[in-house]
Amino acid sequence: MAGALGGVETVFLVWPFLTTEGAPAVLDLLKRHVRRVVYLSSSGVRDGARRQTDPINQLHADMEALIEGSRLEWTVLRSNTIATNALGWAEQIRTTGVVRGPDIAATAVIHEGDIGAVAARVLTSPGHEGARHVLTGPEVVSRAEQVQAIGDAIGRVLRFEPVALDVARERMLADGRPPALVEALLASAESRPESRLVTTTVEHLTGTPPRPFTTWAHDNAHAFR
Ligand SMILES: NC(=O)c1ccc[n+]([C@@H]2O[C@H](COP(=O)([O-])OP(=O)(O)OC[C@H]3O[C@@H](n4cnc5c(N)ncnc54)[C@H](OP(=O)(O)O)[C@@H]3O)[C@@H](O)[C@H]2O)c1
Repeated sequence: MAGALGGVETVFLVWPFLTTEGAPAVLDLLKRHVRRVVYLSSSGVRDGARRQTDPINQLHADMEALIEGSRLEWTVLRSNTIATNALGWAEQIRTTGVVRGPDIAATAVIHEGDIGAVAARVLTSPGHEGARHVLTGPEVVSRAEQVQAIGDAIGRVLRFEPVALDVARERMLADGRPPALVEALLASAESRPESRLVTTTVEHLTGTPPRPFTTWAHDNAHAFR
């Protein structure tokens, strides 16, 4: 990493793990080479909560605390559910036309391109030090509505069928996902509270409104055919 950091001033940090193990060492190294970190976190993080609602939000709260205590300049991007999660449905859609999974609370799902546009802006302009930007899509969509939007994009009738957590667990383990990740995803499906939060941050920072899920479905139709 030290070799890769030569001449770098600002780092975009993604921590796609379930523990902070290794993070203090990475932040120590960053502190010696760069001025600022932009960290991709979750909009589910609750400020001031002693414990977060699920292990993934807890991880992000812990990472934010480590970054804040690191004496690096920092900016946090708290993202809502990313639309790319729907790519995990591609095989079920292709083979059965029915998506079976736990019915996670509806939320304002965000196009990954809008996170990228905000990240590019924040990485290349001053004035975001110590900011926590909460990023959402433009409208709250349920899983059933997401599946329907994908169906409209590919010209097929699809449906979402909620299944009990035990059934979902068996399916995810059979798909070969690591057990710790399966438990974290199920805990988030079970305990994450419904959020109807829609922010104007994407438009405010980029000048362009965030894209609705229907646009994402058209952009990614090839993945579901
Ligand atoms: N998905 C959401 O709804 C959501 C919402 C809010 C925040 N977030 C956060 O945003 C981040 C990205 O989420 P995601 O859903 O896109 O995760 P993901 O699908 O698991 O993608 C993780 C990315 O990290 C890379 N990666 C994994 N282990 C790595 C390692 N040891 N070294 C280098 N790269 C590694 C993966 O590379 P490969 O593709 O090569 O494996 C992949 O590109 C996570 O921290 C997540 O908690 C996600």
